[in-house]
Amino acid sequence: MACFFRRSVALQLSKVCGLSEDLLVPLISASPASKKQSFADLQVFVKDLVQNEASVPNGDLGKTAQTLANQLKPDAVVEDVIVTDRGVLRFRLNKHLLAQKLLESISAFPDGFGVKSDLLSSLPRRRTLVEFSSPNIAKKFHAGHLRSTIIGNFIANLKQALGNEVIRVNYLGDWGMQFGLLGAGFERFGSREKLQSQPLQHLFDVYVQVNREAQSDESISSAAAEFFRRLERSEEEAMKIWRHFRDITIHEYQLIYKRLGVDFDHYSGESFHSNQTQNVLEELRRKGFLKTTLKGTAAVDLSESGDLSNFATLVRSDGTSLYLTRCVNTPSRIFINIPRSLTDKSQSVHFQRLFSILSLLGHQWAQRCHHVPFGLVQGMSTRRGELVFLEDLLNEAQNRMMQNMVRSQTSKDLEDPEQTAERVAVSALIVQDFKGPLISDYKFDWDKVLQAQGDTGVFLQYTHARLCSLLRCQVCELSPCTDFSSLVDNWSVSLFQHLLRYDEVLLQSVRELQPRYMVRFLLILSHLAASAHRELPVKGSPAAVAQARLHLFHSVRCVLASGMRILGITPVDKM
Ligand code: ARG
Repeated sequence: MACFFRRSVALQLSKVCGLSEDLLVPLISASPASKKQSFADLQVFVKDLVQNEASVPNGDLGKTAQTLANQLKPDAVVEDVIVTDRGVLRFRLNKHLLAQKLLESISAFPDGFGVKSDLLSSLPRRRTLVEFSSPNIAKKFHAGHLRSTIIGNFIANLKQALGNEVIRVNYLGDWGMQFGLLGAGFERFGSREKLQSQPLQHLFDVYVQVNREAQSDESISSAAAEFFRRLERSEEEAMKIWRHFRDITIHEYQLIYKRLGVDFDHYSGESFHSNQTQNVLEELRRKGFLKTTLKGTAAVDLSESGDLSNFATLVRSDGTSLYLTRCVNTPSRIFINIPRSLTDKSQSVHFQRLFSILSLLGHQWAQRCHHVPFGLVQGMSTRRGELVFLEDLLNEAQNRMMQNMVRSQTSKDLEDPEQTAERVAVSALIVQDFKGPLISDYKFDWDKVLQAQGDTGVFLQYTHARLCSLLRCQVCELSPCTDFSSLVDNWSVSLFQHLLRYDEVLLQSVRELQPRYMVRFLLILSHLAASAHRELPVKGSPAAVAQARLHLFHSVRCVLASGMRILGITPVDKM
């Protein structure tokens, strides 16, 4: 209910500074929480008021702040206004009211706390397409695909939580010369049995082998080229084989995505382009954007001066399509509005070109397309060696987590310890990945990732499970109407102060499409919850106090769980 308090402060302030309430609301923020806080407050930077309103005098910000503060009167919501020398106005909130409003609003909306906040009301709500994961059939699944998968899932979850209709698309690398090789290779080295029992492994093996043999055996290269030509001509026999490869790959991936808690509405892919490529190329040519070069290729001139100093090739000299050609063609065929594509940062230029070409084609929505680039992960490997299959990484993370749980004897009364280990391990991978700016590279380290103490996904899960256990163990049930007046101690206030920030975190996350704000928020929430859990016993406290504390812990658990879900983490109840 941060918005209730922000509104009240805005109302007061608008009377003395001339700005409207609506303009003031976004300028009001919750001060960062600290441990053992005795007061909770919202703050306003006077420089922000000056920037927005000419009648607020510039000059000594401290003095201006003091002048404004002198005109403000305490009321039922704001008990006091404090001025700091850096020109910050702090509105000290009535602690009883804060406890009551926050806890009531979390109870009323346990899974969606904060999403209806005023602060978020001006955000557009649209149909949004998020394209992510997008691995290549028969090729390695590298760390970049894992990043794309979890980051894309986060963006989709966040957009959805904030009221957008989200369409999740997996744009598979399912077309191109590699299928020529794969088709030709399968005829020579393929095994139907292996394709049944270990599809991804077998397709990958065939692909590696045929690539190797093709280097010394020209007949293979020409067979591959022939196979691909048959595909481009949509010849039924070749298409049948291709479709089979694609179907079993999708089936296998779906099993793995399920373990990651990820789901797609559409499996699209580069193959989707084929029927319409000619039309789009024709259109570009007709409009004068596509030019044939001296080398016989066809390219779109993207330079300012029209001298081909910046161009994008769309047709090879032998007439075949490229990765970019296929991308240009695909989006218009699926009903999109705001596509967000996720790949590592090496593809940024590709997407710039893609969006420029889509604009040239007159697609209005091209301006709202975004590429979300991310950095590289170094050293992500498994005991089998270099990462080839996502499944190996998941298995290894799960096994390592299982060992840790057995060692610390926490898994003894779990119904399904493997599943718990997997969920915790996945959260560990996610938090490790989401801690820094997405564009940064990072070094992967199994020991760091899976630490139970410290700022890890394991710690988030551990906090969640502990809160669940606290709520489970209580003799008194959580009853609806409670007297929250006991929750004015420093530990409760610190938690409330922090919870006040949740909508700001949602806003910052969606503006920047970066998960690190949410990660940091949840880690701090967990640290504050750990102190509160230590200091505020439920058992043995007078009934009203015990009830109030239970409500507090219940609310913290709800917010922790919804934040975790947005990140793509499934919270565990026991571990
Ligand atoms: N399959 C590509 C790769 O592995 C990523 C596809 C990204 N999306 C796109 N529309 N190009 O690098």
